[in-house]
Amino acid sequence: QYDITDPTSIAVLVNKEYGLPEDYEPDDLVKTDIPFVYEYEEVHFLREEAAEALVQMFEASKKDGIELAGVSGYRSHAIQKTLYENYVNRDGEEAANRYSAKPGHSEHSTGLAMDVAGISGSCAANNCFADTEEAAWIAEHAHEFGFIIRYPQGKEAITGYQYEPWHLRYVGKELATILKENEWTMEEFFLDVDIPDEQP
Ligand code: DAL
Ligand code: ZN
Repeated sequence: QYDITDPTSIAVLVNKEYGLPEDYEPDDLVKTDIPFVYEYEEVHFLREEAAEALVQMFEASKKDGIELAGVSGYRSHAIQKTLYENYVNRDGEEAANRYSAKPGHSEHSTGLAMDVAGISGSCAANNCFADTEEAAWIAEHAHEFGFIIRYPQGKEAITGYQYEPWHLRYVGKELATILKENEWTMEEFFLDVDIPDEQP
């Protein structure tokens, strides 16, 4: 029912094991019509379906008094490579691998992922975002628009990444709702993963 290997599939699985072709670039990228924390336009794009869903999500959040902003959406292989290398230089490879994907292994290169923050940008892509009302709103409502919190708390051993309350991945409403209701990651739903007992 869901195609997790075709890069153009809404359900494509991208993680440390499953990658994208180096030259993959979605053919329906559009500039996402939302406010952004940073002006750097190269990362303001998403695939059309995801962009439209995100605009709807932002409108709904606003009605609830929550003003969101985009931080980083589609990233080309080249941009992801530069980012990853900068993080490795800053924090070392082991630490960087817990929060940054190698080029070819980032969901941002699918055009289906967007990092979001509050409009002030104060906790953009930072751990302090977890304690904001914006993060709480997203955690409760993102699935209604087809998005999941891709790297939930306590699932690092499964997803390969630390908790990222800001990283939204578009998978469509149906799959997003299944994952949310069961508290499953994509790995738990699609792969036969052994779920380790994580100690808090
Ligand atoms: N921060 C996520 C894992 C990425 O680099 O795609
Ligand atoms: Zn992200």
